[in-house]
Amino acid sequence: MENVNQADFWQQRYEQDSIGWDMGQVSPPLKAYIDQLPESAKDQAILVPGAGNAYEVGYLHEQGFTNVTLVDFAPAPIKAFAERYPDFPAEHLICADFFNLSPEQYQFDWVLEQTFFCAINPTRRDEYVRQMAALLKPKGKLVGLLFDKDFGRKEPPFGGTKAEYQQHFESHFDIEIMAPSYNSHPARQGSELLIKMRVKA
Ligand SMILES: C[S@@+](CC[C@H](N)C(=O)[O-])C[C@H]1O[C@@H](n2cnc3c(N)ncnc32)[C@H](O)[C@@H]1O
Repeated sequence: MENVNQADFWQQRYEQDSIGWDMGQVSPPLKAYIDQLPESAKDQAILVPGAGNAYEVGYLHEQGFTNVTLVDFAPAPIKAFAERYPDFPAEHLICADFFNLSPEQYQFDWVLEQTFFCAINPTRRDEYVRQMAALLKPKGKLVGLLFDKDFGRKEPPFGGTKAEYQQHFESHFDIEIMAPSYNSHPARQGSELLIKMRVKA
C-alpha cells in the first residue's frame, strides 16, 4: 500500500487507462456548489489537489474563474488537461506532490476536494489536514466530497465515516457542513458526504 504515496502508482493507472474513479464529468454536487457562487468569487485563488483529469478545473475555467490551480503528481492527466484546455494558464498546472507544496509560496481562498483524500494513505490523514490548513488563507475553506463508506484499507479508495473524519479535521477546521450529499452522481448515490469547513483562526 506504500506505493499510493508515489506518483508512479497513479501514472501507471493513467497509462493503462485503469481509472475506475474517473466520472468523466464534473461531479454534480460540486457543479451545483460552483454554480451558486457569486461573480465576486471568480478571482479567488482556488486549489484542486489530486485533480486527475480535472473536470472541476475545466468547469471552473469555463465559468470564468481566473485563478484556479491544478495539482497532481502524475504527469499524464496534466498533459491531457493542457491539451483539452490550451488557454488554461500553464503556470497554474502544477505537477508536484501536494505534501511538498510550500505554504510560503502558495496560499488559497478555498480548496476543492474530489477523491483526493481517499487516494492518500489513511495513515497520512492528519498530515493532509495540517497541509490543507497551511495552504489556506485565514478563514479559507475546504469544500468538496468525502466518501461516506469504508472500502477497507488495502487499496484506494480509502473511505471512512463522518465520526472518523470529524476527529481528523476538528483540530484545524471549523466544520460548517459534513452531511450526506443529495445530488451525487448516480454511481455514488448514498455514499458521499458534502463538506464545507473553514480553517481555524
Ligand atoms: C483517485 S484519483 C482522483 C482524481 C480526480 N480528483 C477525480 O476525481 O477524477 C487521485 C489523484 O490524486 C493524485 N495524487 C495522489 N496522491 C497525490 C499527492 N500526494 N500529490 C499530488 N497528487 C496526488 C493521483 O495522481 C490521482 O490523479
